[in-house]
Amino acid sequence: MCSIIGYLGDIAAAQIVVNGLKRMEYRGYDSVGIATFFGNQILVRKGVGKVEEVNSKVKLYMLSGNIGIGHTRWATHGRVNETNAHPHLSSSGEIAIVHNGIIDNYKELKESLQRDGYRFRSETDSEVIANLLQYNFDTIKNIKDSMIKTVSVLRGDYSFVAVFPDGTLSAARFHEPLILGVGKSGYFISSDVLGFVQYTDEAIYPNNGEIIIINANGLQFLDFLGRPVKHEITKISREFADVYKGKYAHFTLKEISEQPNTILKTADNTRSELELFIELVKNAKSLHITGSGTSYNAALIAKHIFLKYAKIKIESVIASEARFYPDYFDNHSILIALSQSGESADVLEAVKMAKRHNSTVISIVNTMTSSLPQISSVSVGLNCGPEIGVAATKSFTSQLGILYKIADNIAGGHIGFDSQKISQSMKEILVDHSKIRDIAKILSYASDIYIIGRGIHYPIALEASLKLKELTYIHAEGLPGGELKHGPLALMDPSVYVIIINPHDSTNQENLASAHEIKVRGAKIIGISDKYDDTYDYWIKIPTISEALFPFIEIVPIQLLAYYAAVEKHTDPDYPRNLAKSVTVK
Ligand code: AGP
Repeated sequence: MCSIIGYLGDIAAAQIVVNGLKRMEYRGYDSVGIATFFGNQILVRKGVGKVEEVNSKVKLYMLSGNIGIGHTRWATHGRVNETNAHPHLSSSGEIAIVHNGIIDNYKELKESLQRDGYRFRSETDSEVIANLLQYNFDTIKNIKDSMIKTVSVLRGDYSFVAVFPDGTLSAARFHEPLILGVGKSGYFISSDVLGFVQYTDEAIYPNNGEIIIINANGLQFLDFLGRPVKHEITKISREFADVYKGKYAHFTLKEISEQPNTILKTADNTRSELELFIELVKNAKSLHITGSGTSYNAALIAKHIFLKYAKIKIESVIASEARFYPDYFDNHSILIALSQSGESADVLEAVKMAKRHNSTVISIVNTMTSSLPQISSVSVGLNCGPEIGVAATKSFTSQLGILYKIADNIAGGHIGFDSQKISQSMKEILVDHSKIRDIAKILSYASDIYIIGRGIHYPIALEASLKLKELTYIHAEGLPGGELKHGPLALMDPSVYVIIINPHDSTNQENLASAHEIKVRGAKIIGISDKYDDTYDYWIKIPTISEALFPFIEIVPIQLLAYYAAVEKHTDPDYPRNLAKSVTVK
């Protein structure tokens, strides 16, 4: 999704802003731009493409001035083109803004401003903020009051940073992330700590509904009614600095490879929040679990293990569908929300709906400074470090780690959750995965891949199809093995590849029967199993582990298959097209 950044300080802003945007690239975007304030003028450069591409065309770095703002855009309103890229200037060019989120009432505001003679250049909702600020500033001639007046009429979820005609930097936050960095060289405002962590580890997290004003007089925080707000400076966790690829070609490969360690770190979570979480789950009258994408696939596995081992029923609902099931929620129910980013709009929406129905919300989140923990009664951290690759990898196994830890605690150790054993098994797969790489090469030519699993392995089949789709752009579909004969067998022919998730457990024999049915129709079979079978055209060996723990290790070769197939196809595994790491729009 869009990233915003602003800087005001002693050094050249363009360099800082561009570096910040580069570090936030993982959030996903299609165009980029920056503006600086220099010689009482606002200078803007922007374009379509990655930061480096636009930079090499228009030399973003070269803009002068010690005050600047920048943006990477993920188009929602208006096409992907240079005009729609941010920053947007007000009609007179005296105010520039960058915006993240959506302004719901932009059409009526735009029409009203147009009637007052304000000119619009783009198709975006964001430009209305620039002209509204200009309108209010032209009338009130005061930055603080112009900001208050502007936020009082904006509807929607947003955060924005604006540069005013005297070089004042001002920002507002409403249901979208915004963090202030306090550095020796100046102030940073960003949608993500990664935007400035290179320069300072001191930060302030403004509350929802706050305005920041930074100028020669210093720094002020106000609520939307203009009342001053006090904040303490917090130290950013040092792990945020660990956002370099190191020896790895891509973040995605780095994050896949980190899993033997991250699963241990997650399992070490002994904080009091975890105990409270367990108590709430144990005593809940009704339990629901939600998430989007990968987080939802983790929720499906949780549903399975809680029922099988802890005898606790959990109803799962995809976050974006939750609003169609308001009757799930009442004052006796608990909603478990899973999210790596803690910012997915669909998840936040589901949580808000549950809260409106007086349900208790508890969450499992990786980015603990995000919105979800703030609106949850208890929140447990994944502790797996920043995940930069758009495809969720280590956060998935860490979500499973926390969920298993909770379920195992309630089940009196019946699951036998053993993070050391899982870590060791993951290492065995990762240490020499050249065979997986070879199979990925073959798979990269496929046009259709089906992934089959039964029982607890079915959600892994769904997660596998998600990884393959987003990294390779190949059509991939996860299926419960038993459903083959109810339709999908019609699709099997020699052009098709089928991955069978087939550990040697209670699902093994039925899966082999499915494999035979597929094979006689000519499709190629990739078996992921701890035991060889001659139906497999390709066998990816995984270590043997107890049935309940297989999901942790069978996902690793699939992540590698998807990653290497993407590399083979020359797609960018870290930033797949059309996708964003934090999906902050509905
Ligand atoms: C996973 O690979 C995807 N990029 C996506 O499905 C993701 O899991 C989903 O958007 C949810 O994100 P969250 O966990 O940050 O809420």
